[in-house]
Amino acid sequence: MDEDLYRLASKWISESTHLVAFTGAGVSVESGIPTFRGEDGLWNKYNPIFLETNYFLTHPKKSWSLIKEIFYDFFGRAKPNDAHYVLAEMEKKGYVKSIITQNIDNLHQEAGSKNVLEFHGTSQTLTCVTCNSKYNSTNLLVSIPPYCPKCNGLLKPDFVFFGEPIPQEVLSESINEASLADVFLLIGTTGEIMPASTIPYIAEKNRAKFIEINIEESKYTNSMVNIFLKGKASEVLLKLIEFLS
Ligand code: APR
Repeated sequence: MDEDLYRLASKWISESTHLVAFTGAGVSVESGIPTFRGEDGLWNKYNPIFLETNYFLTHPKKSWSLIKEIFYDFFGRAKPNDAHYVLAEMEKKGYVKSIITQNIDNLHQEAGSKNVLEFHGTSQTLTCVTCNSKYNSTNLLVSIPPYCPKCNGLLKPDFVFFGEPIPQEVLSESINEASLADVFLLIGTTGEIMPASTIPYIAEKNRAKFIEINIEESKYTNSMVNIFLKGKASEVLLKLIEFLS
């Protein structure tokens, strides 16, 4: 039964003309990065208020100390896992045309993926809220909160805070990719967060075929998924690429 699913999934992937992968926190779990929801999810430990813009602007020190602890000290040590590497390999072999990721950990790029659309932005750069200058996050986090070397304004990470709009460019690119997809790979996402969670529905409207990789069912599983490969992202993808070669 399982083998048949893998065989069919690999057939769809090898025959696809525009395969798009849509990834969530689950693809980075085996890199040591916790998910946001689920029993040991980040939002069970931390009140996400520190990622709301007006809280950030009025409590910069408190907000930045959590942001640095979670997204730079903790996430910053994470390395890509086999799931990221297999997806990069599938891009190199011409199977994956793009990855739309909800993650801000940069692990797809570190694994070698080139066409990555960061729907929720990135932790790699910071922007000054006063003069809009942009900086690399690496050498500016020695003191918290970090201030702009040019105008001394507060620096903010370039990932999307709760209540903020999705950056226009990545939104339109993601919508475009989803509308071109003939095969859509859903990996490690609950499908609970808007507007990211609406992207797969664009592919569904375009009658894409859906393959989902997750350790448990998501909001998509019983509504649009054709093949559900249950398991850890790295294990399932390593098995899938064997069927592809
Ligand atoms: N392999 C595959 N999937 C996994 C694994 C694993 N090893 N471990 C967990 N998962 C799945 C869970 O079953 C769940 O479906 O990953 C998903 C994680 O769900 P969330 O924590 O909700 O992550 P995500 O869907 O990416 O959240 C979307 O919410 O808080 C915001 O901005 C944040 O980008 C995030 C967005």
